[in-house]
Amino acid sequence: MRSRYSLDLLHTIRPIHTIKPIRQTVIIAELANDPSIQQGIPPSMKYRAAIRQGARIIRNGGLVGFPTETVYGLGADATNASAVDKIYRVKGRPREDPLIVHLGSVDDLAGIADDESHIMDTALELAGIYWPGALTMILSRKEGAVASEVSAGRNTVAVRMPDHPVALALIRAAGVPIAAPSANRFGHISPTTGEHVISDLGNEIDMLIDTGHTRIGVESTVVDLTASTPTVLRPGGVTIEELRRTCPSLAYTPKQAGGSSSSPGNYLRHYSPHTPLVIVDDLDVDAGNRSSTHVTEVMSELVGSLSARGLSSTVIATFPEKADDLRNLASNLYSYLHTADAGKGDIILAGFVRDEGIGTAINDRLFRAAAGRVVRDASPTTVDFIVDLVSPYRIELDPTD
Ligand code: TXA
Ligand code: MG
Repeated sequence: MRSRYSLDLLHTIRPIHTIKPIRQTVIIAELANDPSIQQGIPPSMKYRAAIRQGARIIRNGGLVGFPTETVYGLGADATNASAVDKIYRVKGRPREDPLIVHLGSVDDLAGIADDESHIMDTALELAGIYWPGALTMILSRKEGAVASEVSAGRNTVAVRMPDHPVALALIRAAGVPIAAPSANRFGHISPTTGEHVISDLGNEIDMLIDTGHTRIGVESTVVDLTASTPTVLRPGGVTIEELRRTCPSLAYTPKQAGGSSSSPGNYLRHYSPHTPLVIVDDLDVDAGNRSSTHVTEVMSELVGSLSARGLSSTVIATFPEKADDLRNLASNLYSYLHTADAGKGDIILAGFVRDEGIGTAINDRLFRAAAGRVVRDASPTTVDFIVDLVSPYRIELDPTD
């Protein structure tokens, strides 16, 4: 299989800090933007070889970057403690932040999770409706089924069956459940293209299967079924409205409303670009309907005032009217953040979207990318606050990191 990226290019992307060679050649299957994959048609001959090789690497304890319908995952054999350990090392992820186990079929659920009747009943019902799909369920962990490192020592386990033909083929070919976080360095923006994976982790993974842009673009919805009330720990690809049809009591407290951090991965500063991001929001936090007019006015005033102070801003602000547009925005959100981060702007300004459907996940990710920084006016105090964020002398003290 020929790589779409030469090793030279990889070296130019992540060149200087390492003198050791790339551990193994990163192989990129020539699959990007293959329409048959986007349409969910099962793998053809063309990429069977890539999947076979990926499965071999997983079974041998290596790391494979692979596409899912949400974001790219960094996969390892969930039953192999040292392979799982590599995930934490390569990502720079805190060891207390557990990983999602990816399954190739609903039937595999019983092998991973304990059959605590009412929990398993709900899990099977939800899996029946949303799997394969962007729903991750936290269940009681079956002792010995996967390496305990996957669960960061907890007695629960997160499971999901991805809705992507390459992901499913890889898991099935590997013959083991695959532990996979998003394929980015801890705290950074999740990857929605193969290029994003390469630029963050290119030196450290054994293989990347690149099928172009992921469809949903934000991560799966994480639902804790072991809590006394089923609780959304992270909004994502399957909307809360959809889930409440099956689970009317489903609880969710948005981070913006000061939600607790019961999901260990719910660090506030997360999914962040390196360039500081600030949310510009309406004056009235509780106004269900945000006024895009107010936000747009504040933004343009801020851009002017910041420019007068020598700072250039990149604005990511769309106020989609239709649900389809929100889906589209979700799908491109991380690409926009990656692009804004790679640009010359000193600061990124963004606006929240309507808090419904996939908009809930978009707002959650924007809020975290902004590390909780929300401004509502273009007053001198606000401008000073933003100028200070960009100051090279600023010392970042972030207890959640
Ligand atoms: O869409 C996705 O979910 C992607 C793709 C690759 O499947 N994966 C992903 O994984 O986003 P990661 O590791 O970046 O996020 C997993 C989230 C984290 O917030 C983690 O704390 C939470 O799930 N999680 C995993 N296991 C958990 C557990 N046992 N209890 C509570 N939260 C858990
Ligand atoms: Mg992640």
